[in-house]
Amino acid sequence: MRHHYGTTTLFFFITFLSLFSSKFASSLDTLTATQSLINGQTLISTSQGFELGFFTPGNSRNWYVGIWYKNIPRTYVWVANRDKPLSNSSGTFKIFNQSIALFDLAGKVVWSSNQTNARNPVMQLLDSGNLVLKEQVSESGQFLWQSFDYPTDTLLPDMKLGWDLNTGLDRYLSSWKSSEDPGTGDFSFKLEYHGFPEVFLWKDNEIEYRSGPWNGQRFSGVPEMKPVDYLSFNFITEQDEVYYSFHIATKNLYSRLTVTSSGLLQRFAWIPETQQWNKFWYAPKDQCDNYKECGAYGICDSNASPVCKCLKGFQPKNHQAWDLRDGSGGCVRKTNLECLKDKFLHMKNMKLPQSTTSFVDRSMSLKNCELLCSRNCSCTAYANSNISNGGSGCVIWTGELFDLRQYPEGGQDLYVRLAASDIGDGGSADTIIICIAVGIGILILSLTGFSIWKRKRLLSVCNGTQQKGPQERSQDLLLNEVVINKKDYSGEKSTDELELPLFDFSTIAAATGNFCDENKLGEGGFGCVHKGRLVEGQEVAVKRLSKKSGQGTEEFKNEVRLIARLQHRNLVRLLGCCIEMDEKILIYEFMENRSLDSVLFNKAKSSLLNWQRRFNIICGTARGLLYLHQDSRFRIIHRDLKASNILLDGEWTPKISDFGMARIFGGDQTQANTRRIVGTYGYMSPEYAMDGLFSVKSDVFSFGVLVLEIVCGEKNRGFYHSNSELNLLGNVWRQWKDGNGLEVLDISVGSSYSPSEVLRCIQVGLLCVQERAEDRPTMASAVLMLSSETASMPQPKTPGYCLGRSPFETDSSSSKQDESFTVNQVTVTVLDAR
Ligand SMILES: *[C@@H]1O[C@H](CO)[C@@H](O)[C@H](O)[C@H]1NC(C)=O
Ligand SMILES: *[C@@H]1O[C@H](CO)[C@@H](O)[C@H](O)[C@H]1NC(C)=O
Ligand SMILES: *[C@@H]1O[C@H](CO)[C@@H](O)[C@H](O)[C@H]1NC(C)=O
Ligand SMILES: *[C@@H]1O[C@H](CO)[C@@H](O)[C@H](O)[C@H]1NC(C)=O
Ligand SMILES: *[C@@H]1O[C@H](CO)[C@@H](O)[C@H](O)[C@H]1NC(C)=O
Repeated sequence: MRHHYGTTTLFFFITFLSLFSSKFASSLDTLTATQSLINGQTLISTSQGFELGFFTPGNSRNWYVGIWYKNIPRTYVWVANRDKPLSNSSGTFKIFNQSIALFDLAGKVVWSSNQTNARNPVMQLLDSGNLVLKEQVSESGQFLWQSFDYPTDTLLPDMKLGWDLNTGLDRYLSSWKSSEDPGTGDFSFKLEYHGFPEVFLWKDNEIEYRSGPWNGQRFSGVPEMKPVDYLSFNFITEQDEVYYSFHIATKNLYSRLTVTSSGLLQRFAWIPETQQWNKFWYAPKDQCDNYKECGAYGICDSNASPVCKCLKGFQPKNHQAWDLRDGSGGCVRKTNLECLKDKFLHMKNMKLPQSTTSFVDRSMSLKNCELLCSRNCSCTAYANSNISNGGSGCVIWTGELFDLRQYPEGGQDLYVRLAASDIGDGGSADTIIICIAVGIGILILSLTGFSIWKRKRLLSVCNGTQQKGPQERSQDLLLNEVVINKKDYSGEKSTDELELPLFDFSTIAAATGNFCDENKLGEGGFGCVHKGRLVEGQEVAVKRLSKKSGQGTEEFKNEVRLIARLQHRNLVRLLGCCIEMDEKILIYEFMENRSLDSVLFNKAKSSLLNWQRRFNIICGTARGLLYLHQDSRFRIIHRDLKASNILLDGEWTPKISDFGMARIFGGDQTQANTRRIVGTYGYMSPEYAMDGLFSVKSDVFSFGVLVLEIVCGEKNRGFYHSNSELNLLGNVWRQWKDGNGLEVLDISVGSSYSPSEVLRCIQVGLLCVQERAEDRPTMASAVLMLSSETASMPQPKTPGYCLGRSPFETDSSSSKQDESFTVNQVTVTVLDAR
């Protein structure tokens, strides 16, 4: 077909001319009943956002009529005849018989919209991307038919996903068969309005994933979902309609939600600066997103291993399958319920169970909800239906609870019915009183012995005397995805094995001289750091977290346990923690040579860092970061990598600190802190500084800045402009381009260095700070490039310049300024939370 192009174009050109004179639209976005559209002609919405016309996807030989973005590389948002292709381009699209219809060359109707009772219909492509059929002169402004009611695989802003209960219309997304075939594929994303409404991703007739019900703020199973200034989410539950939609407040900003032919839900945002669709969110993300991964009454936790566990008071139905890590059989009660005597177990941070058959009362209080549930013997759980403003409304489940998962943060409270004997502590008022009484007794009895035990425990952990059996060891290796550089490992310890030493506050206060100023090592966004000496003589660094973390004690402990499990030669080792009242303290190993910035940017000390040391610091930091990104069982994005977070031990081995803070403080807090801590601006990738988008590649950017700082011995300043003389990245880039790379090397390095190593570091640094995240290498390739003389390296492109919203003067000690600086609300993407 393509080779006839010349003649066909000529043919169409003539047809076009003849049509144009008589029939073709006078207004570009509208077709009247007497006009028609053929291949080569398009309708364009008034503001030039969308275009409708004939197309053929990829190398397909079939022709379709569809809608795409006018000014963005071809992205189709709707296809009319998706399952009824034209075998060639000779078709006609027009109004016929009060409907919109597509005819083939023979004049046969290939596809048509439903018939309406229009008198004088016109079709129009609206600015929203909606193709509508309406009366030419219409008082009500109502549409007789609209493409938004028959979605293909894409949800556009203000398009409804869900039900019109009056007409029974169900609007849902269904995937293309493949990238070259828009025909209805295997996957669909449909809203279920029964019970407590939620949205399911289906593969044919099987559920693959569910969003969890809408809890007033977000889907219960999408804890990372947050409205941002320009993107908001709506969920409407009314008598005659139930739907989900999203809204974009800014013109010329595009976002779309699609279901791909491989069964992924993806939200994209168009980044005009990079001319790219950026993946903003996707699902399913991890094992725990698989529908019913842990069966009935099983809870999935993707940070645990194995991921499935039974709810308290339950045990695996099939122990053998469970031990082989197949949790899908679920769990059964240990003790049968007794109805009125039962109690409720309070669970936090949960994704609510599947709720298609649940009962909802949106006005009932939680107290009455509990009453309702406890009086109805088939009720198994209850929760608030809306978590806004401290919670309101009531939803109760009867029967088995399916597809539960627990998040480190962001889930919601769920109350599960248990036999009173299974509830243990903390059930209801009377059990609490008993617990307190018993608890005080035990506490008094054990207080003395306990603290001795703790000290021993700490020593054994630190000296590595807890050895693993060979079997456990090999299993651990299987669990870890990739093992590079085995010598760097001190080995992750499995959940059950790792007991994080808990210190009491008085011990810590004594060790640090009551947190006196002489012992203060520094102050960061997360709190103060003091030097301390334990009774045994061991020196430690004590980080007293600021109280704004807002995290509960249990969550904090979980996070700390997780961080403690990350062990690598280039990560600062966490030795223990202290949680007492509202104090949260982390105890780390002490680093003799303090932080990198205290040496590197100090004129008197910087000559201590000869080239060999600098190169080792660069490579060690790279390996530590690689471990966080890839080799540890949990992917950790540091979010705040900078010279002051690289600590140096007596041998000048670099150790990354403050990793995992994003998990303790939550993404928002980290950003708030990062933005408040002046100077950190210099390490921010453009996509983070401008759009708040975070990924491992943002860490790579920070790493690149760090490498260039280490080579040049100079600090990168905050916001800057591409041609600014003052800017480190710009300066290095210019010298590199001119072939004068070695000029930028810090003079305090002296004359003993390897020019090829220096140039290699500069090149890697520049590759890491490239503007587009996709261009930057992963840490795995950065490590490879740094360590190999022969690795081939691409030529770097222009570094990413954060064009400041305002020039931001840096002055690191002004706390007044810190407070008055308000933090813009920014997007948090937790793409990498596994
Ligand atoms: C287009 O397809 C129709 C049948 O669908 C056929 O009759 C016609 O000859 C084809 N035209 C071209 C140019 O291939
Ligand atoms: C118009 O549509 C109606 C209903 O679908 C159908 O019965 C009728 O035959 C159509 N008329 C023509 C001319 O195709
Ligand atoms: C026409 O209406 C039927 C039944 O109401 C519906 O199933 C079908 O999807 C509609 N098709 C179009 C293109 O409007
Ligand atoms: C949830 O509660 C908030 C505040 O009470 C209210 O504004 C909002 O409309 C509620 N949302 C739903 C879906 O009921
Ligand atoms: C318990 O609640 C369920 C769901 O609302 C309801 O169908 C059932 O009739 C109730 N049973 C009793 C005994 O009230």
